Amino acid sequence: NKGKYDHYMQKEIHEQPESLTTTMRGRLIRGGSRKPKTVLLGGLKDHLKTIRRSRRIVFIGCGTSYNAALASRPILEELSGIPVSMEIASDLWDRQGPIYREDTAVFVSQSGETADTLLALDYARDNGALCVGITNTVGSSIARKTHCGVHINAGAEIGVASTKAYTSQIVVMVMVALAIGSDTISSQTRREAIIDGLLDLPNKVREVLKLDEEMKDLAQLLIDEQSLLVFGRGYNYATALEGALKVKEVSLMHSEGILAGEMKHGPLALVDENLPIAVIATRDACFSKQQSVIQQLHARKGRLIVMCSKGDAASVSSSGSCRAIEVPQVEDCLQPVVNIVPLQLLAYHLTVLRGHNVDQPRNLAKSVTTQ
Ligand code: UD1
Ligand code: M6R
Repeated sequence: NKGKYDHYMQKEIHEQPESLTTTMRGRLIRGGSRKPKTVLLGGLKDHLKTIRRSRRIVFIGCGTSYNAALASRPILEELSGIPVSMEIASDLWDRQGPIYREDTAVFVSQSGETADTLLALDYARDNGALCVGITNTVGSSIARKTHCGVHINAGAEIGVASTKAYTSQIVVMVMVALAIGSDTISSQTRREAIIDGLLDLPNKVREVLKLDEEMKDLAQLLIDEQSLLVFGRGYNYATALEGALKVKEVSLMHSEGILAGEMKHGPLALVDENLPIAVIATRDACFSKQQSVIQQLHARKGRLIVMCSKGDAASVSSSGSCRAIEVPQVEDCLQPVVNIVPLQLLAYHLTVLRGHNVDQPRNLAKSVTTQ
């Protein structure tokens, strides 16, 4: 039931404050006068010791689920101190890449039925790794075949383009990082700040959803373009990949997410006064590097759309030649949850304006059960 909305994708984008609340329900413990705030993940609590002892954590997934894992990688590395590597499920299988008994392999999947991810799961199990699932579908193959895991509880997602599952997956993986790191006293202040940020995140997402009309106007401007580049780095490298994936899969416009640190190693050659480029430059440890990227793109007359933190519009678009999208600032590791929302809205409006099927893009299936 789409309720007041025209499409499931639109409904699922707008219900993210509620789906995020459901994802966190019963899992954040507020603490007491002397007790710290903590995270309780029922599906992981008996396995945390094993995970902390593992030599490596390997994230495995496809498409949006891979991007959600990529968004969570920095905070998991920071709070666990364990090396975290990334695998696209089909590529791990193609290479028959090394997976060991000392590894924790984390399988991320909305449907829990993706064939590539399932094959990689069988492979990792056969190699003796501890297999953890992060899935939205209770009783799915991945939920059943993993040794343990966490349901993301985002509610059924109907639109082929994954939106609310992405933001809930990131929140679950941040909670996983908090749970794994919970025995480290030195990071307790950081962990409590993240928990406070999580509790307030639905409000911040409600706030960023108010950009709907602004994103529709932007879509109108971009309607006849051939391509859109999206630059991000750090926590928001994943936002660039996921924003571009949304735009290409539903609006059928070519779009590419680019790690900003790679700009001079090739992509800069594409920059001219015609190609639209979105740059994610919200406040975090990478902000000054993104400011210099913006300057270099300006110098080449790039057509820029800059996503920045509230209050930064004037400073990021000093030359006046670019459009700024201001978003609320949150804890650095939660910023990808806020930043993807305007790009989801942009992809949605571009699709409607270009007259394409929003909920069932041509050639795609919601759950990819064949290789
Ligand atoms: C569970 C209940 C929830 C209840 C709560 C009360 C289920 C599905 N969940 O939630 O209804 O409100 O206790 O404390 O009954 N698992 C995997 N692989 C996955 C995902 C999950 O093996 O990919 C396993 C977990 O290790 C766990 C079980 O499935 O044993 C349920 O996981 P989850 O729903 O995340 O646990 P809780 O949040 O504790
Ligand atoms: O169900 P899964 O999360 O395993 O699906 C993985 C991908 O097929 C999926 O995310 C796909 O990329 C979506 N169409 C993205 O919106």
